[in-house]
Amino acid sequence: MSAYAETYARWQADPEAFWADAAQAIDWIKPWTQVLDTSVAPFARWFPGAELNTCFNALDRHVANGRANQTALIYDSPVTGVKQRFTYAELLDKVARFAGVLAGQGVVKGDRVIIYMPMVPEAAIAMLACARVGAVHSVVFGGFAANELATRLDDSQPKLIVTASCGIEPGRVVAYKPLLDQAIDLASAKPERVILLQRPQLEATLVPGRDLDWMAAHEGVAAVPCVPVAATDPLYVLYTSGTTGIPKGVVRDNGGHAVALQWSMKAIYGMDPGDVFWAASDVGWVVGHSYIVYAPLLAGCTSVLYEGKPVGTPDAGAFWRVIAEYGVAALFCAPTAFRAIKRDDPEGKLRAQYDLSSLRTLFLAGERGDPDTVQWAERVLGVPVIDHWWQTETGWPACTNFAGLGLLPVKYGSPTKPVPGFDVRVIDADCVEVKRGDIGAIVLKLPLPPGCLPTLWNNDDGFKASYLADFPGYYKTGDAGFMDEDGYLYVMSRTDDIINVAGHRLSTGGMEEVLSGHPDVAECAVIGVADELKGQVPLGFIVLKAGVNRPYEEIVKEVVALVRDRIGPVAAFKHAVVVKRLPKTRSGKILRGTMSKIADSQPWRMPATIDDPAILDEIAGDLRGIGYAGS
Ligand code: COA
Ligand code: AMP
Repeated sequence: MSAYAETYARWQADPEAFWADAAQAIDWIKPWTQVLDTSVAPFARWFPGAELNTCFNALDRHVANGRANQTALIYDSPVTGVKQRFTYAELLDKVARFAGVLAGQGVVKGDRVIIYMPMVPEAAIAMLACARVGAVHSVVFGGFAANELATRLDDSQPKLIVTASCGIEPGRVVAYKPLLDQAIDLASAKPERVILLQRPQLEATLVPGRDLDWMAAHEGVAAVPCVPVAATDPLYVLYTSGTTGIPKGVVRDNGGHAVALQWSMKAIYGMDPGDVFWAASDVGWVVGHSYIVYAPLLAGCTSVLYEGKPVGTPDAGAFWRVIAEYGVAALFCAPTAFRAIKRDDPEGKLRAQYDLSSLRTLFLAGERGDPDTVQWAERVLGVPVIDHWWQTETGWPACTNFAGLGLLPVKYGSPTKPVPGFDVRVIDADCVEVKRGDIGAIVLKLPLPPGCLPTLWNNDDGFKASYLADFPGYYKTGDAGFMDEDGYLYVMSRTDDIINVAGHRLSTGGMEEVLSGHPDVAECAVIGVADELKGQVPLGFIVLKAGVNRPYEEIVKEVVALVRDRIGPVAAFKHAVVVKRLPKTRSGKILRGTMSKIADSQPWRMPATIDDPAILDEIAGDLRGIGYAGS
């Protein structure tokens, strides 16, 4: 029996004993009264009665236990030319002092704090400082527009916002302050205070009486100790794309999260304390929360925070440079990053310039790890490449191969097997498991393990409706796929309108809401189409209102600009086409799936319920006109 099979069986035999054992790796202030409480079904709470502080576990205890002088965080920013290292003692000092700033501003346990920052160490410091005072942080990705920030303000009602004057994208400085000011104008929930980090690349003007400069805010402020919180208290809310334009506030609690992440660092990532771990993501995404900030620090590792891209900063050797310079043992990124490197350096020649002997494993997630990319990475790096599957909601991997338990044989196209804690099933609409090899809905049998979302922020009903209602007794992942005879999972597609663009999760429904706001648009649809670099990109179809006779190119330009303005550049919405009508079923449902298949030149079947089959020919013609559908 493999170590994986033994561990999974041990979890299955007694899940509560398994997690109680894993919880020994965390320092608790008060023990739990129960490992798992399922009395308020369908909700499940891990470690009720227990108290801890996540920041204490990430920093203080390591300083107390001999890691004070070990590097906790490395900041590497090719876009500014800055490199910095923070030992555990230094990071603790900075975090405890910023926690003092927050406390001085009246932020107390349970208050929400929005963090709208680029990839600077202060973003991690602000997150950990919130954890220290028991405040609930909500980090908003810098590539979102003001409108997206405003919806998050209204939903989370923060007392305070922490931001920076700008972010830096290759070739352009992104001014954050105008976006923030616009978002506050749009939102009905106005924060009392904004704390802003001035960056030398672009200084922002502060609003008197509301905005405080990050440096000035620290003057005369003392460090503060950790505030005990309940294991079941929220640590953060992270908004993610739902099936409409309204994002879902995924809640993460303190206790289960710390236990699960700490466990994952060894069993999944094979990391020991002192190892250097690099998640090349952004603190605005779940990968950044879990594997740039919390997990590496909980486990006493060194984490790399990289403000740059895989290519262009300055070249396709950027990742190799960082691995070599800091002795990175495990790299985690989206397959898109490797596709970008492969595009610029197909032979992986730049790799020869660097000593990558420290690297033990590459982890890929965020979108399907296509076999070509995985095999290319294996060839270039000469280390195991692990495709693993998870989502914002789960907070940590649900299916993976296991660097720490002994690697299972690789099957390309599969993120391997379920992680202990996750009972992954593939079922049909009647909740019956389908035959091995048959495609169905991928679900997780309840209860979810520690670290997964206990609910949505202030929205228990939304949590039940979105995730638990369709398949009673199971959590719906929104993914479809199959499991093979050996229990390997294959994730094939989403069952909703979410698309993954360069590893970024986006809602086509949200984009449709924006398009329909254009005065000339009568009807619209947005689909995901295959893209060589980004995996998928959105493509819009618009039907114009009768009587509109402006040039189509002008209207297309306007809707493209509208999506960039409302959702943000990260939506990568660059193409739309004007069509006479949209293909629909007789009941009026737009046939988005069929349109995607036609656009990607995939085999498709005429839907039996189609209203007018001729429309699909028209659509195929329109698509060929803009370079899709096998043109
Ligand atoms: N702030 C502001 N704008 C941002 C941003 C941020 N934090 N992140 C991305 N954007 C902008 C980009 O500048 C780009 O703008 P443009 O339309 O003016 O060019 C747009 O959003 C789309 O960005 P992206 O999809 O990332 O494409 P890109 O062409 O800039 O870069 C890659 C391509 C492959 C280099 C990049 O997508 C990448 O590094 N991907 C890895 C994804 C990843 O780490 N995902 C996290 C999950 S693990
Ligand atoms: P996010 O919440 O942004 O992490 O996106 C989660 C979604 O990305 C999942 O529900 C999947 O659709 C997709 N995804 C993430 N990792 C993988 C993977 N390894 N293979 C296939 N799809 C993935």
